[in-house]
Amino acid sequence: CGDRIALTPPMGWNSWNCFAGEVSADKVKRAAEAMVKSGLVNHGWTYINIDDFWQNHRDSKDQTLRGNLRDEAGNILPNARFGDMKVLTDYVHKLGLKIGLYSSPGPWTCGGCAGSYSYEKQDAESYAKWGFDYLKYDWCSYGGVINGMPGNDPYKVASLSYQGGGNLPVAIKPFKLMGDYLLQQPRDIVYSLCQYGMSDVWKWGNSVGGACWRTTNDITDTWVSVKNIALAQDKAAAWAKPGNWNDPDMLVVGTVGWGNPHPSKLKPDEQYLHFSQWSLFSAPLLIGCDMEKLDEFTLNLLTNDEVIEINQDPLGKQATCVQSIGELRIYVKELEDGSHAVGFCNFGLEKVNFSYKDFEKLGITGKQKIRDLWRQKDIRSLNTKSDHLLIDVPVHGVLLYKFTPVK
Ligand code: GLA
Repeated sequence: CGDRIALTPPMGWNSWNCFAGEVSADKVKRAAEAMVKSGLVNHGWTYINIDDFWQNHRDSKDQTLRGNLRDEAGNILPNARFGDMKVLTDYVHKLGLKIGLYSSPGPWTCGGCAGSYSYEKQDAESYAKWGFDYLKYDWCSYGGVINGMPGNDPYKVASLSYQGGGNLPVAIKPFKLMGDYLLQQPRDIVYSLCQYGMSDVWKWGNSVGGACWRTTNDITDTWVSVKNIALAQDKAAAWAKPGNWNDPDMLVVGTVGWGNPHPSKLKPDEQYLHFSQWSLFSAPLLIGCDMEKLDEFTLNLLTNDEVIEINQDPLGKQATCVQSIGELRIYVKELEDGSHAVGFCNFGLEKVNFSYKDFEKLGITGKQKIRDLWRQKDIRSLNTKSDHLLIDVPVHGVLLYKFTPVK
């Protein structure tokens, strides 16, 4: 499926960062409605993705089962907060949106809900029958620690025995198993692997049917988290292409935090940097906030079509950092029309203000027109051989420019 669908990075919403274990069909419906009412749907935002906790689970303290995990035939059961999944997918589809859900290849998901272990075929069939368009498939409770990456297993790893996959490394096997079953379904399902970059997933994710894969650990709405994740993306960049996306995790903007809803702790400039980087990275864009609490700033941030276009550029290249000047990192992304998106990203604690002239180091030559994408404003034209450009970037802020060759 990876080569035919998700030819540009998926855009949508995910329930985890705002609802976690409190997600319900009702909240999902309201998120979908807000996606439409807010107008976000008109800017490419499409997927409404249910994360963990649509299934029944074990109590994290005494481990007692809270509801049946499966029916007698082994079919996975949604919990009481969800009920009939087909009713929910129909509702979301009628709004013109798509809908996704979540599982894990171990017996238990990261939250201790029922995972797909040894029921992969039946689960893939249930997802397709219910009408889902996207599956995020995690790692928890499958394999403990691999390559130094913890399995995040709140319970015991039940077994590493596996039904298929020949001699594939343990980090790949379960993803191929589910990927094969998804491909057999009479429905396109975007397959998103969530295993934190283990075993260089960007090199094999597509071969197991994946369209995107997490490259790093879970994001939180702090500058340190966003910075560390952003700085760890270059390793995977060369593998990005249409249908193959590196996923640095959700967008921590707007009102986030389960149990303790609060505005993202990222300052406005940090949010511009966060969104610019995710656009430059050709990352899946999944809004992590409570969609019913969208404030004006967040809405503006998420509806700048010129910035979104950088993310959705059909060439599907991922920007890398091509030059660092102190803590200013300059990211360049080649675009389909021969232009370049350039992010002057200030990771430092000092404002940056200087005159820049190394355009050729960025791979940009000749006469160029420069447009400021956040401000949607042409800045000037310049000759890269002789001219200078004033770079003025606030602390933890960004300038996102598009350089287009002028004939
Ligand atoms: C892992 C993932 C998160 C989320 C939780 C759910 O931590 O990385 O994105 O899906 O599991 O339990």
